[in-house]
Amino acid sequence: MRATAIAQPNIALIKYWGKRDVARNLPAVGSISVTLRELYTEMRVHLDAELPADSLTVNGKENSAMLWRLGACIDRVAGETRPRVDIASRTNFPIAAGLASSASAFAAATVAAAAAAGRSLSLPKLASLAGRASGSAARSLCGGFVELTNTPDDVSVRTIAAAGEWPLQVIVAITEAGPKAVGSTAAMEASRKTSPFYSSWVEQQAHDLDIARQAIDARDFEQLAAIAEHNCLKMHSVMWTSRPPVVYWNSATMRCLQAVRDLQAAGLGVFFTMDAGPQVKVVCLPEHAKAAQASLVAIDGVTEVMVSTLGEGARLVEPK
Ligand code: PMV
Repeated sequence: MRATAIAQPNIALIKYWGKRDVARNLPAVGSISVTLRELYTEMRVHLDAELPADSLTVNGKENSAMLWRLGACIDRVAGETRPRVDIASRTNFPIAAGLASSASAFAAATVAAAAAAGRSLSLPKLASLAGRASGSAARSLCGGFVELTNTPDDVSVRTIAAAGEWPLQVIVAITEAGPKAVGSTAAMEASRKTSPFYSSWVEQQAHDLDIARQAIDARDFEQLAAIAEHNCLKMHSVMWTSRPPVVYWNSATMRCLQAVRDLQAAGLGVFFTMDAGPQVKVVCLPEHAKAAQASLVAIDGVTEVMVSTLGEGARLVEPK
C-alpha cells in the first residue's frame, strides 16, 4: 500500500478568492491557471496498519504542522477507517509563501493516496477530493491552461489548451521566502465578510473568465495580459479593502511591477500576476523570457528568480 505521485504548482491567471461553502471548501468563483513544469512536489504515501502513528516529513524533516491537513486529505481519499499513514514530501521551491505549494502538495497527495488505497478514481472525483483540501489543488491535476468550473454541488477541472499548444513561460520573483502572514482561508473569509468590493468581484468573474478563455483560444497575448493583470489587481483590491486589511505586498513587489511596466513599454510580451504572498509571477512570451529574467534578477529585494515552462498535470510515478 505504497504509492508516489508528482504534481506541479499552478499559477492562476483568473483568480479564485472567496468560498461559497467553507465546510466543503467550495470556491465562490471559477478560475483559470497555468500548470508549471520546473517546480514540483513529490508525495510518497505509505498506508500500513503496523505503523505506530501517522507521520509526515517535508524535505526529510519531520513536520507535524501540516500533518493534520494532509491526514484529513488522505482520510477523504482512503476512508476514515484507513490504516496509519507515513507521508514523505519533497519539493524544490519555498512552501507556504504564495507559490501555490498547497496546490501541488494536495494534488500529489490525492493521486498518491488513491493509488496506495487501491482506488481507481476518475478526474471529477479526484478534483472533488483535491479541492476539498485546497481550492487551487484541483487545477494541478491537469496540465497546460486549466479551467476550474463551479458545478451546482462541486467543482470540475479541464485543460483548455495543452502546455505545448501555447508554450508561454513563467518567471517567479521571490521577494520573501518565509511563510505568509495570513493564511488564505482566513483572508478569504475576511474579504467575504468585510470588503465592500467582494460582491462585484464575484459578479464580474464570469466575464473575466470568458475574456481569458477567448484570449487563450486565439493565442492573443495582449488580451490575456490585460485581463489577467486586471483580475489580479481586483483580487488584491478586495484583500486590501478587507477589515483588517490583507496586504501581502512589500516594497520589492512594487519594484517588480514597475519593472514589468518598463518591459511592456519597451514592447516585450510580459505581464504580472500575484497571489496570497509578496512574490511576483511574470508570464512571458518565450522569446522575451531571458530579458524579463535579467530585469527581475537585478531588482533590489528580489532574493531568487525561478523560470518555468508549462507542464503536465499530477501523475503517479510509483507504481507506474
Ligand atoms: O488554494 P488556496 O486556498 O491556497 O487559495 C489560493 C488562492 C490564490 O492563490 C490567491 C488564487 C488562486 O486562484 O490560486
